[in-house]
Amino acid sequence: MSSTSVTEVQVREALAGFPDPETGRDAIEMNQLQDVRVDGSRVSIRFAVTTHSFPIWADVQQSLIDRIKQRLSQVDDVQVERAEHERPAPRAGEMGIPVRSVITVGSGKGGVGKSTVSTSLAFALNRMGAKVGILDADVYGPSVPHLTGTLDQAPRAQQGLPAVVDGVSVMSIGYLVPADQAVVWRGPLLHRSITQMLGQTQWGELDYLVIDMPPGTGDVALTLSQIIPTTGAVVVCTPQEVALLDAVKAISMFRTVNIPILGMVENMSGFLCPDCNKRYDIFGSGGARAKAMEMDVPFLGEIPINIGIRESGDNGSVASIVQDPVVAPYFEKLAYNLVRNIAMMAEKEPPQTQLPVLG
Ligand SMILES: Nc1ncnc2c1ncn2[C@@H]1O[C@H](COP(=O)(O)OP(=O)(O)OP(=O)(O)O)[C@@H](O)[C@H]1O
Ligand SMILES: [Mg+2]
Repeated sequence: MSSTSVTEVQVREALAGFPDPETGRDAIEMNQLQDVRVDGSRVSIRFAVTTHSFPIWADVQQSLIDRIKQRLSQVDDVQVERAEHERPAPRAGEMGIPVRSVITVGSGKGGVGKSTVSTSLAFALNRMGAKVGILDADVYGPSVPHLTGTLDQAPRAQQGLPAVVDGVSVMSIGYLVPADQAVVWRGPLLHRSITQMLGQTQWGELDYLVIDMPPGTGDVALTLSQIIPTTGAVVVCTPQEVALLDAVKAISMFRTVNIPILGMVENMSGFLCPDCNKRYDIFGSGGARAKAMEMDVPFLGEIPINIGIRESGDNGSVASIVQDPVVAPYFEKLAYNLVRNIAMMAEKEPPQTQLPVLG
């Protein structure tokens, strides 16, 4: 081709400093640019990211294309192929759990859909290519075994192996203590039960550990903040004013224990009538978005009231609701926004030295 054609070296230079979406570090230094081919004004590259970043791959791909085109004006076509960057997950906390991001899902008020949102979010992340685990930290009323239809896997859990559904690993006190046995978890006992579930489970390598929190109480948040570095919290609320007030309390609770807020979710936001396609805002709508703005926290998205969501919870098939064509896009958007916010946080503050802990 002519003298205007670019070279492989120029492409590599154009991408110098491109941030790895998981860690915010220079991806080129970490050998994530695995192949560069140039043919006249056409460039094709192979770029590797960890499965942690698969949910936002389309964005990463577009940023790579934009960067190359902006810096090398003679390039008019860029193809980017995705590869998996295989590097071990950092060991989080004193227990050394191999996990890249720990997400707690909480609310101030009970019954707003934390367990529904946390499990669906986990399954959505899993469908988008990430390796995911769920820890049911609601030791007062564990509902994750039921929601995920995994109670029959209790014997596995009793041996320290997580229950597995659709490739997602699950651990809950519900596998270990009979459902009708009321346990008053307080202080040291609460701390110990959560520490054991977290530390004695063979999670394998995880991109995301999603933690379903009990309503209100700060005890569990405090325990978690002491034993595992948390990437951030997702606060679930419904549009009613009372739920919003409680969400504000939940945000300050997380702030008190130094857990950053990754965003707010408005659950049960409007009912889309399957017969007439009309939307009914049963509890109102938009309140969480406005409250998030007011509190200066990101808004992650809304989940409508949907009969299928309720039924999937009742019959233990939450894993499949994220494949339902009507509601799956809402959960995918939530997962996408969450991962994008984590990437933005990482880019702002990449880890200082090695990667022992990602917090
Ligand atoms: N978007 C939704 N559409 C329809 N039903 C929903 C939705 N979200 C949650 N539900 C239903 O509402 C009930 C409460 O949800 P869930 O158990 O997830 O709430 P929670 O906040 O975890 O409750 P708790 O505070 O008791 O832990 C469940 O029956 C669930 O199926
Ligand atoms: Mg719950």
